[in-house]
Amino acid sequence: MNTSSSILSETLSVDKKESQNKSHGESHSDDLVGTATEEIGGGSNDGAVAVARTLRIATPRVFTSFLIPARYKGAYGGRGSGKSHEFAKNTVVKCLSAPGTRGVCVREVQKSLKESVKRLVEDKIRALDVEYGFGIFHDHIVTPGRGVLLFQGLQDHTAESIKSLEGFDFAWAEEAQTMSHRSLEFIRPTIRKPGSELWFSWNPRSASDAVDALLRGPNPPPGAVVVQANYADNPFFPNELEAER
Ligand SMILES: Nc1ncnc2c1ncn2[C@@H]1O[C@H](COP(=O)(O)OP(=O)(O)OP(=O)(O)O)[C@@H](O)[C@H]1O
Ligand SMILES: [Mg+2]
Repeated sequence: MNTSSSILSETLSVDKKESQNKSHGESHSDDLVGTATEEIGGGSNDGAVAVARTLRIATPRVFTSFLIPARYKGAYGGRGSGKSHEFAKNTVVKCLSAPGTRGVCVREVQKSLKESVKRLVEDKIRALDVEYGFGIFHDHIVTPGRGVLLFQGLQDHTAESIKSLEGFDFAWAEEAQTMSHRSLEFIRPTIRKPGSELWFSWNPRSASDAVDALLRGPNPPPGAVVVQANYADNPFFPNELEAER
């Protein structure tokens, strides 16, 4: 598989003050072993206000298969393997590269937003230095081109209320090992827009859990991209976690 760079063709228009032709990378780690680089946009200045900007974002090699579209994308593995950061980054990149993107970040139970990945996504927006395109509100994030990111607990949904998510471009289920069969069967047909994607990140605990049965069972959906990641695959693995191993 080609694990080198991937070019996303969308051009980002940014305020001129933002356009210092900087190269942005959340970790400046383009040269880290085990990373690839993806780029959004080009580098030319087309006038007084709108300019294009290039983002250079390091992707751990273990996750480079997520750079191409797939209906199902799953990352499973042990603590600290970079799964949550990877999908948080992909959330922001998707919103930047396809204006108007609507995404929902779900978990089985979400008693408060503090339990959601909202803070992580916000941090990722800041780390990538793309705040100008996003609006951060109490319970949602407005994305470039009037899109939106929502953060919801699947257990709070009924068969009727889940339909509010039809027309969404992607759903990311975090801690997906806790997802019930009911919730999985709710979300799969709901995310039905052409080209829409379902993402799952989880720490496996039982082969009979719904996400494991779907993505690691004998008959995964055709074209599903499922990746096992462990701490050694995480080029950003922090010293604090090393000490806890
Ligand atoms: N793209 C990244 N940029 C910066 N730091 C990162 C990145 N990916 C991972 N890290 C670092 O590695 C740590 C572990 O990553 P992350 O929380 O995504 O792992 P995880 O697989 O979701 O772990 P868990 O199973 O415990 O939820 C993070 O706390 C962060 O310090
Ligand atoms: Mg995590």
